[in-house]
Amino acid sequence: GMKLVVVGGGSTYTPELVDGFARLRDTLPVGELVLVDPAADRLEPVGGLARRIFAKQGHPGKVTTTGDLEAAVDGADAVLLQLRVGGQAARQRDETWPLECGCVGQETTGAGGLAKALRTVPVVLDIAERVRDANPEAWIIDFTNPVGIVTRALLQAGHKAVGLCNVAIGLQRKFAALLGVAPADVYLEHVGLNHLTWELGVRLGGRDGADVLPRLLAEHGDAVAGDLRLPRGLLDRLGVVPSYYLRYFYAHDEVVEELRGRPSRAAEVAAMERELLEMYRDPALDEKPELLARRGGAYYSEAAVDLAASLLGGRGATQVVNVRNAGTLPFLPDDAVVEVQAEVDADGARPLPVRELDPLYAGLVAHVTAYEELALEAALRGGRDRVFRALLAHPLVGQYAYAETLTDRLIAHNREHLAWA
Ligand code: G6P
Ligand code: MN
Repeated sequence: GMKLVVVGGGSTYTPELVDGFARLRDTLPVGELVLVDPAADRLEPVGGLARRIFAKQGHPGKVTTTGDLEAAVDGADAVLLQLRVGGQAARQRDETWPLECGCVGQETTGAGGLAKALRTVPVVLDIAERVRDANPEAWIIDFTNPVGIVTRALLQAGHKAVGLCNVAIGLQRKFAALLGVAPADVYLEHVGLNHLTWELGVRLGGRDGADVLPRLLAEHGDAVAGDLRLPRGLLDRLGVVPSYYLRYFYAHDEVVEELRGRPSRAAEVAAMERELLEMYRDPALDEKPELLARRGGAYYSEAAVDLAASLLGGRGATQVVNVRNAGTLPFLPDDAVVEVQAEVDADGARPLPVRELDPLYAGLVAHVTAYEELALEAALRGGRDRVFRALLAHPLVGQYAYAETLTDRLIAHNREHLAWA
């Protein structure tokens, strides 16, 4: 069996992943699953539940837990990154201080997302170095946000890495349910950057199947729009389905008003995590609890198992991942990272061609790609001016006075995580 390592294994999300590995063991035979985390108080209850899930489902693999990354990655076939530098406390700040300038406070979008990138990129690169030292053949699967920027950092440093997000698989499931077909029969023409994507088509039965997106919008437009919390009329006019992260752009001021008036998502999640850890400590619990479905990452286990199974050589498949652009979107640099359908096998992920992107979307994609490039510069090299440049380039910031203020706040709130500050 394979040796898989989960960095950030003490996350309350981990049982979702373990459940996926257990259920889908024919697709991906896991011999050893190593959960690595510096937080022993989380690792213990999560590891215990993980073992009970494997045992209940008759999975022969063993689950181990450790705080020692070096020992964990030794001989690993794949390493999944799902860490969160600074925990929910840092996220809480990302979601809060931008609001004071009238800018959206979110963990991956806007100024908060930049803060997360600055904290995260150096840590992830350091881990990736250690993975490569231990086994140059090991694959790195990155769920750590912001996935687009983190994946670009990994690829630029020459790592064997693929970035993954659950937005596409979530929509695939949703559309399949609305259309009354199996998820595997829904092929999304999913195009853009991580957390900045549009479904340009919904094909039944595979890449060459009929596009049922017009029918989906006509028959289920209210349900789709309701999930995204965007007006149905907007979807009808666009004729495509944006991801719910586009709401931060298309309804920016409305979102800022809403966020100002209620507790942060980080606070909600922190409360859920306390409850989840309490449940995980119960030796009678031997399956992933319902409560986990209220986290944004639902179905990420399915996507992860699919990706690991393809990369580790059992089979090849098509899947939405974050990969080097390499001409896929011709108006972007080759080394930008895009989120599109790709062919994945033991040689890695190769993006499939996409149809030409309407300027209505292409402009925003190009704009955010430029921001991501500058964000990565700031994360790698530090310095107040690089942070300012990234914020000035962000379409949701843009004005110099806001960029100045947000730069100061970002640095003040993250000093302990920024080596250069
Ligand atoms: C979605 C996104 C993830 C993000 C998550 C947040 O799943 O794709 O990138 O981490 O939502 O969920 P949470 O429950 O932490 O708010
Ligand atoms: Mn995501």
